[in-house]
Amino acid sequence: MSAYDDRDGKIWMDGKLVDWRDANVHLLTHALHYASSVFEGERCYNGKIFKGVEHSERLKKSAQMLDFEIPYSVEEIEAAKYAMLEANGWTDAYVRAVAWRGAGEDMGVSARRNPVRLAIAGWEWGNYYGDAKMKGAKLDIAKWKRPSPETIPVHAKAAGLYMICTMSKHAAESKGCSDALFMDYRGYVAEATGANIFFVKDGEVHTPLADCFLNGITRRTVIDLLKQKGITVHERHIMPEEMEGFEQCWLTGTAAEVTPVGQIGDYTFEVGAMAKDMVETYEKLVRA
Ligand SMILES: Cc1ncc(COP(=O)(O)O)c(C=O)c1O
Repeated sequence: MSAYDDRDGKIWMDGKLVDWRDANVHLLTHALHYASSVFEGERCYNGKIFKGVEHSERLKKSAQMLDFEIPYSVEEIEAAKYAMLEANGWTDAYVRAVAWRGAGEDMGVSARRNPVRLAIAGWEWGNYYGDAKMKGAKLDIAKWKRPSPETIPVHAKAAGLYMICTMSKHAAESKGCSDALFMDYRGYVAEATGANIFFVKDGEVHTPLADCFLNGITRRTVIDLLKQKGITVHERHIMPEEMEGFEQCWLTGTAAEVTPVGQIGDYTFEVGAMAKDMVETYEKLVRA
């Protein structure tokens, strides 16, 4: 595949569809310098975006947490996503909406006079972790920590929160791992660089309390699916040493979907029946 800025197709930008290679911004875009940007990652299956409205609502809320308002309603954002998909002839694709403070009269930290912009692109994306769905992904433990809610708006899906994700993912990849697991500022197990985490012990599920990181839409969906199956789910603070006693593990996220984990640092997990069942149950649900 060619570079992401050099493809055929259409991107929705500020109210209209533009040619892929013309979807550009100026160098003095506020977001490029100060991370005043929020985004969404969504997947369209068989022509329907899974929980699309929830994603659009979260996009607008993320912007509000960063003190800006996206000048489009949820309905308008929904229509834009489908217009982009249709223009590219896709029924199965990843959808990336991004809103940011553009170039304008301000170029300092303050950005009140700059326009808020919105664009929606997409691409065809297979398994985020390659063949890990069968074998289980291998994770490194990140040296960075998810920050306190007093440090940054931790529940926003904001570009600035991904700086340590890229650094941690690079470190993981150079050790032959496909991702990194973060602890939070208190030392509890938090999440991976783009996905939430679940563990299984004695037939029950344990997942970190989402009190300082993104409470993923997939995370909430999987918790509901587990409860529907009568499985007890503990949302709680988890110490890293507890991983020793956990039998199974998986990640959840729009891109990751449900991906079993085989190893985190020195801790190992089996790709067991519950992990496999969640992969399948989630797959069925998104295509229902
Ligand atoms: C840091 C991070 N945590 C969790 C998630 C999972 O969120 P969702 O299931 O809403 O895609 C994502 C992916 O969007 C993410 O980037």
